[in-house]
Amino acid sequence: MSEKPWAGRFTQPTDKFVEEFTASISFDQRLYRYDIQGSIAHARMLARQKIISDKDAERIVYGLNEILEEINAGKFKFSVALEDIHMNIEKRLIEQIGPVGGKLHTARSRNDQVALDIRLYLREELDSLADYLDALQGALLDQAEANIDVIMPGYTHLQTAQPVLFAHHLLAYHEMFLRDAGRLRDLRRRMNVLPLGAGALAGTTFPIDREWVAEQLGFDGVTRNSLDSVSDRDFGLEFCGAASILMMHLSRLSEELILWSSADFSFIELSDSFCTGSSIMPQKKNPDVPELVRGKTGRVYGNLISLLTLMKSLPLAYNKDMQEDKEPLFDTLDTVKGSLKIFADMIAQLQVRADNMRIAAARGFSTATDVADYVVRKGIPFREAHEIVGKTVRYCIENNKDIPELSLEEFQQFSPVIGADIFDFVTLEASVNSRKATGGTAREAVEREIARARQARGRN
Ligand code: ARG
Repeated sequence: MSEKPWAGRFTQPTDKFVEEFTASISFDQRLYRYDIQGSIAHARMLARQKIISDKDAERIVYGLNEILEEINAGKFKFSVALEDIHMNIEKRLIEQIGPVGGKLHTARSRNDQVALDIRLYLREELDSLADYLDALQGALLDQAEANIDVIMPGYTHLQTAQPVLFAHHLLAYHEMFLRDAGRLRDLRRRMNVLPLGAGALAGTTFPIDREWVAEQLGFDGVTRNSLDSVSDRDFGLEFCGAASILMMHLSRLSEELILWSSADFSFIELSDSFCTGSSIMPQKKNPDVPELVRGKTGRVYGNLISLLTLMKSLPLAYNKDMQEDKEPLFDTLDTVKGSLKIFADMIAQLQVRADNMRIAAARGFSTATDVADYVVRKGIPFREAHEIVGKTVRYCIENNKDIPELSLEEFQQFSPVIGADIFDFVTLEASVNSRKATGGTAREAVEREIARARQARGRN
């Protein structure tokens, strides 16, 4: 038999460079475990359905397990001439157990085989991603709890807006990652159907039992259309989409960590183990990790666009173009996994500079809205109250004072309704703790959300 499993109709050997150009073995070898797992289930099904004998199936399964060990031990010799992981393993099987190995590919095509392998691989990776996300969320909750009384300035337009609890700010990210985890779970559920049995594109003439294979491999069901089964990469796209959103969240957090650790903010101190120095400026401690995660977000977006563009306009069913699905997918998985892992550790080791946050929170007239709300509670329409406090702030700017520093007489220049109790409303604590409704920044509201999040984690 010729070297290549498909060489029967060819009279000339493949050009060497074409061989290299068309091969995917350099990157799809990471699918080996799933390829073997799928093949074992397929071989057993063939025997159950009397398509091959039990004895043949046993030998095939034995051979496949041997190959698994060989690859695990780093002893397997991958061949570019054999193009991809599927043919490398099949060829080795035949080498090992003889021509009976050639029966494995009965009722199967590489087209449904590769669709299966990617799903099995991605499914497992999604489960480990979920663990990494969970660890990051745990670190955020721990920091929120440990710093429950720390007040920082909340911003809009990056201008001081209203004071918020640092814990509340961290919990905002916790919410984002909660939605990310939900998106990954959704797509896992949608993709968890078996494509094997679609054959090259039209199904197979053999009496296979797809439902049995699906059960063996932990799928919730089988795909319903053979053409779609071999040409669908929606699950990869959904993953890259979900991953892009997740990285967008990580990059926003990165940006804040970078800002907060600058000398001008000095809100936090990243652990030395996540930073590097400068080769020329001795004082520098650069936040490389969040910077890189922010940068890597771009490549994950790029992978999504690659995959979308790859799939655009492809006629049904399988096209070789689709071999290009793997690198963006693998790269996205590696990047997201690495970013989550490093973030969980970095957040856990974050030092908070509560005093600096507090000083910043007290600047910038951050309690102006509280004065306006106070005036409204004295019966003044909000628009008028807004005007009154606007003038108060202008007075403060001109006299180089912040709101809590004004005397009662100064306050009363702008409205006679302001009484001595105003001072109870313009402290940072009063401002924060008066926002008690669900989702607000009051300590009691934040504590409720931490408890809720902890309880939800207990359920998972
Ligand atoms: N290496 C191929 C891929 O990843 C496997 C499927 C090949 N099928 C084919 N008809 N050439 O897409």
